[in-house]
Amino acid sequence: MRVAIVGGTGKLGSALALALSKNNDVIIGSRSREKAELTADRLSASSGRRILGTANRDACSSSEIAIISIPYTGMESVISDLADVLRGKTVISSVVPVEKRDGYFRYVSGTSAAEEIASRLRGASVCSAFHTVPYTLVNRTRNMPIDVPIASDSPDSYKTASMLISSLDGMRPFYSGPLFTSRYIESITVLLLNISKLNSLKNPFIRIVSADGR
Ligand SMILES: NC(=O)c1ccc[n+]([C@@H]2O[C@H](COP(=O)([O-])OP(=O)(O)OC[C@H]3O[C@@H](n4cnc5c(N)ncnc54)[C@H](OP(=O)(O)O)[C@@H]3O)[C@@H](O)[C@H]2O)c1
Repeated sequence: MRVAIVGGTGKLGSALALALSKNNDVIIGSRSREKAELTADRLSASSGRRILGTANRDACSSSEIAIISIPYTGMESVISDLADVLRGKTVISSVVPVEKRDGYFRYVSGTSAAEEIASRLRGASVCSAFHTVPYTLVNRTRNMPIDVPIASDSPDSYKTASMLISSLDGMRPFYSGPLFTSRYIESITVLLLNISKLNSLKNPFIRIVSADGR
């Protein structure tokens, strides 16, 4: 699959680019084409695989899937410029609407970041994943498997996101329900950030454990 990563120059985006490039064609997107090219060159050199970089719009127009990996604060301006080039495509949001106030992390969307993105990208099939995956662990899951909840209104998009996640070493996709359930996934990250800070835990993540051993 050909995957664009909007904000692929950042912490999570770069980690996903590296991991996804093993089994997919990856194009890093950025507000700055030069910055995307520099990041792509650095990741290509370190991995020995060909990773491309260009402006967010160009990355999205030449890909089948786009992952949105940018901070909630800048989300609206970046997304509104991508509606036409993402029409008909699967879009995966990793965005967590979080703000630190009075020493605590707080959830700041009235709905969810994914639903806000879907309302801006009419015609795209928006789903939601990766929120509970710390970027430091993306390429280290072989001995530390991570579960990845996916919210989606579309069975096809869920299938696409699920296949992409299954192509990553040590990641296991779980369907969490329609897109509105993204608010519950996104909130878990806010919970983990508070728990991490208050209990001095390094990069906590989630694993779904069933009493029947599955
Ligand atoms: N870090 C994690 O471990 C992690 C884990 C799960 C989910 N998330 C979520 O995934 C998203 C990305 O996280 P991150 O840690 O990778 O973020 P980040 O490194 O801070 O930023 C990612 C990229 O977003 C672009 N960006 C930064 N500020 C922006 C703004 N104000 N407006 C528009 N674009 C901006 C930048 O790309 P350009 O300058 O190249 O455009 C930047 O390289 C966030 O919503 C975060 O909550 C993060």
